[in-house]
Amino acid sequence: MAEQKQTNDAWTEWMVAHRRHLHAHPELSHQEAQTRAYIEQQLHSMGIETRSLTGKDVIGYLDGPVKGKTVALRSDIDALPVAEETGLPFASKTPGVMHACGHDGHMAVLLGVVKKLVEERERIKGRVVFIFQHAEETVPGGARELVENGVLDGVDGIFGLHLWQPLESGLIGVKEGAIMAGADGFAIEISGKGGHGAMPHETVDPTLVAAHAITQLHTIISRTLNPLDQAVLSIGELKSGSTYNVIPDSATLSGTVRYFEPAVAATIRSRMEDILDGVCKSFGATHRFTYTVGDPSVRNHPEMAKIVKAAAESVVGPERVVEAVPSLGGEDFAYYCDQIPAAFFFVGVGHPAAPYGHHHPKFDIDEAMLPVGADIMREAVFRFLGE
Ligand code: NI
Repeated sequence: MAEQKQTNDAWTEWMVAHRRHLHAHPELSHQEAQTRAYIEQQLHSMGIETRSLTGKDVIGYLDGPVKGKTVALRSDIDALPVAEETGLPFASKTPGVMHACGHDGHMAVLLGVVKKLVEERERIKGRVVFIFQHAEETVPGGARELVENGVLDGVDGIFGLHLWQPLESGLIGVKEGAIMAGADGFAIEISGKGGHGAMPHETVDPTLVAAHAITQLHTIISRTLNPLDQAVLSIGELKSGSTYNVIPDSATLSGTVRYFEPAVAATIRSRMEDILDGVCKSFGATHRFTYTVGDPSVRNHPEMAKIVKAAAESVVGPERVVEAVPSLGGEDFAYYCDQIPAAFFFVGVGHPAAPYGHHHPKFDIDEAMLPVGADIMREAVFRFLGE
């Protein structure tokens, strides 16, 4: 037992060292050259064969002695355009770029899983694919690119995790069905007729039309959707006019729609079109509506979620495994879920000493959860492939 503890401590320190190195050297989406080279080197040093489908990702393969199913594990590898303010000794050395979402930890966790599975290779019944995916933080993201390039060919199931600040450190959050939202975007241009602010009767005021459109668009969530269907419609941008006494020609709006069920997004979109048609017509204005479908929602396959739950219970005990509270944040793991049985789960890293949320300049994780996340993934692999 003492010896096992020793080994685990060394393993944890090894992961922490990787996490800190990667944290100090963050790279933005689609620019992960150093990061992918670092990961590739680590995988090669453990005897893992790799390939890259886009030149920005690294995919590793580990085969057990007998043929069987194939399971994939995914880590994202990109950072954010955030100027770090943690003051940590291993803080970002790249001005204006920071691992402010925890993807540095995800890479360390997945490297930790690789290390253990290489040692246990004789027990693997089938194949494990390690996906180090670029560009999670952009739309369209790296997952879509990898899926289009065949990363899931021959893969029977996939697991992914997020170190999760809203969840208390030590807890694991998992659930069947939707766990992270689909995120769409929209832009609206309202065209009226500009003129003098003192002669509004000779104009079609696009600012007023926009104001009516905004109030009515907000009724979609409260008055069209079933209250039990969760969704968000937010207008983040309104631009109209440039001075106090001129009615402008046009106004532009943009915003985001978040949802868990695709049918809900379809309802929102068609209601938006109806409202814009009606409001603009009532004022004699016209409009152009652009709706961009973004990442779909992350929906966990029931059987895969059950595997994660059982794996997590075996690692942290049943009392520390909770029903995940779904997040309205987006996550391009959704593209894998759309293709094959998949499960995504949350590893709690929220800590009173580190109360800052994801994407905050002071965001930090509880490194003690790195081995926990890795052990759960490792357990899930064996449960999926069969002992
Ligand atoms: Ni993230």
